[in-house]
Order: sequence, then C-alpha cells, then structure tokens
Amino acid sequence: MRAVACIDDLRMAAQRRLPRMIFDFVDGGSYAGATSRANRRDLEAIPFNQNICVDVSDRSTATTLLGEQLAFPAAIAPTGLSGLIWPGGEIAAARAAADAGVPYCLSTMSVCSIEDLAKAVTKPFWFQLYMLKDRGFVQALVKRARDAGCRVLVLTADVPVLGQRHRDVHNGLTVPLKFSARAALDIASHPRWAMRALGSGKRTFGNLAGKVGGANAGSLAQWIGSQFDGAMRWSDVEWLRGIWPGKLVLKGVLNAADAEQARRSGADGIVVSNHGGRQLDGAPSSIAALDRVAQKVGGNLEIIVDSGFRSGQDVMRALALGARACMIGRAPLFGLAANGQAGVASALDIIRKELNATMALCGVNTVAEIDRRVLLPTYPVSGAAQPSPVHA
Ligand SMILES: Cc1cc2nc3c(=O)[nH]c(=O)nc-3n(C[C@H](O)[C@H](O)[C@H](O)COP(=O)(O)O)c2cc1C
Repeated sequence: MRAVACIDDLRMAAQRRLPRMIFDFVDGGSYAGATSRANRRDLEAIPFNQNICVDVSDRSTATTLLGEQLAFPAAIAPTGLSGLIWPGGEIAAARAAADAGVPYCLSTMSVCSIEDLAKAVTKPFWFQLYMLKDRGFVQALVKRARDAGCRVLVLTADVPVLGQRHRDVHNGLTVPLKFSARAALDIASHPRWAMRALGSGKRTFGNLAGKVGGANAGSLAQWIGSQFDGAMRWSDVEWLRGIWPGKLVLKGVLNAADAEQARRSGADGIVVSNHGGRQLDGAPSSIAALDRVAQKVGGNLEIIVDSGFRSGQDVMRALALGARACMIGRAPLFGLAANGQAGVASALDIIRKELNATMALCGVNTVAEIDRRVLLPTYPVSGAAQPSPVHA
C-alpha cells in the first residue's frame, strides 16, 4: 500500500480490500445521493481566514465534551456491522479511539455485543440506541449499557424507516448476511478479507441475540421495518430520559425547532446529522444545518455534528460554526478496512494533525478560541453578525 497521507487514501485502500457488497454498504448514500454529495460540497466551500505572524508555537487540540476530556474534538460515530469489515472491528476501533483520546460509540447494530466490548477495552465507551418496537428489550439494552459502564447514550431518531441505498439493493444485501452466487464470486476475489472476516464466524447483530431470525434472510429495509418503531415520538425521548441516568444525546437533528424540543425533552446534547447522507435524500448538508441550529440553541445544548467529515479542516469548520465536536463515521471505517486497529488509529491521527496545522495557519492556539473569525467574512451567514479577523 502506498503511503497514507489523507482519508481518501484509506478510502481507496478500503475499496481494494473489501468485497463490493461491503464497501458499497459503507460508502453509499441513499436514493440519488444528493445529500451525501451536499455534505462534502458545502464543507469544502467554506473558506478559512488565514492569519499570519501570530505566535502559534504552543497549541493544543484538547477539549471537553459531555464532561469527558478529549485529545481533540472528535468521536467515532456508531456504525452497524463494523465487525464485517474486520473481525472484531468494533473492538479494534474502540481501542484505537481510546489510544487517541476520543470516545467510541458502539451501535445497537454492532456485530460485537455491549458485554464483549466492555470486556475488551479499559476505557468507557458510548452506546447508541435505536428505539425498537419491543420496549422491554429497549429497557434491557439500556440496562446492559449502564452495567457495561457507558456514560453517554446516543438515541438515533432519524430512522423511522430505512432510506433506500440503491447499491445495497443491487448487491442483494440481507440480514443476516447471506451470499448469492454473485456475492460469492466477489468474495472469492477478496481472499484476505474472506479468510479474516468469514473465519471469525460472526455475521449478525451481537446485541440483538434472539431478535434476528436465522433462517430467512430479508433485506435490511425489511428487517428494520419489522423491528424499529416508526411511531417513536418526543414522549419516548422523555421516557428514555427517565430511565437513563447518564448523558443523553439525540442524533439526527437537522433544524432548530427539533434541537429546541430535544432540550425540552431532557437531552444534554444533540448530533446535527443526516446520517452521512444515508436517510432523507434532499435534506440539507449537516454543516448548513449546524449553522442554523447553533445560532438558535447555542449555549443550551452540547452540539456534535457529523456527516461528510473527512479532515481536520472539516472539524475546524464545524467548530467555527458552533459545534463542540464532530462524529466521524466512514473515515475510521475506511481505516479499519485498510488495516484493522492500526488503520483506525491512522484515520484519527490524520484528522488530529490536520486540525492542529489548520489551527496554526488560522492563528489560533486553543479549541476555545475557534469561532467564526477563522472563516472568511464572505462566508454566507444566515442572520449573524459578520466575523472580524481573529487578530485584527
Ligand atoms: C456503514 C455505516 C453504518 C452506520 N450505522 C449506524 C448505526 O447503526 N446507528 C447510527 O446511529 N448511525 C449509523 N450510521 C451513521 C453514522 O453514525 C454517522 O451519522 C455517519 O456515518 C456520519 O457520516 P460520515 O460517515 O460521512 O462521517 C452508519 C453509517 C455508516 C457509514
């Protein structure tokens, strides 16, 4: 593999190493992919305000989020089925996150169970919850997360139904994973992945033992339709608040009204997110939504943002527009596919170093100093005062 300089290098390595069905599941957006593209386009369009002759020799990317110390303002986003990308993928990613000093969020839909991850790592991790129809099971999941030492629960609210990903339909992705003749050929041409991943024998949802039928594999959308509660309402967020003593974060907020209601329902934080462009196609990019949401609810909630973040420059843009941290989903998954735990470590290191350099070039020394002044005053700002240079 050629030297890895950026997240795109890891993406290319992931594309070579993974069978097409798995790579497409990770990489794809929903429907026509408009929101997925908008996430990248809108981030790249935000210009920085370079500042020179500022003493930036004593910089720090350290920050705090939801009461935790972070080495830099990022967290690994919850991603289902990471264990298909690399055996023990969730454990590898959580260990890399702990070493890098950032949180790891385990998905409800992970291959590794909450308990197995807790046994494998020494640092507390976050748990992401989907509201399943079976509330008794949800309550049990919440208790399992608490018993495993999780302090932050992330409730994902933007999957009342699954947004169709055309590539998954074409590839015949099923739950549990079953292989068609075409998929078997695809797998046969990726023998290294096949030996590692299939050898581990784990191909389904570790947290949902007893909930996933073994015999009849259906499409991911069918399975989610049968298990996820499409009737989830704000009263369910309040119910969850009542049974979860730790920090509660609502993921999937894209407008100020929902952010405000999340606060009223007891959330400590939100993730401004369009699920990496994998749900409502045509929804605004997360960075555009962040700009509006942060102006409205700024100081009242801790704001995390995700969807399309691929660099430290992107993290800097999000902090400038009011986020406290970014979640990154695909970037560590590309690293995982490329080289397991070391690949995730590499993805995190790239983003941290890029943020560090971007801070220096914009003339700031601390995360707390980052605000709109690190962006060019020409950046379109809805209703906010025009920024002035950091060091006028
Ligand atoms: C392969 C994959 C699986 C995902 N699974 C989940 C999940 O189980 N729960 C969840 O809340 N979000 C899930 N997401 C969304 C991520 O948490 C996050 O919102 C998104 O990946 C951020 O965009 P990015 O991938 O461009 O960084 C998944 C994303 C991907 C790429």
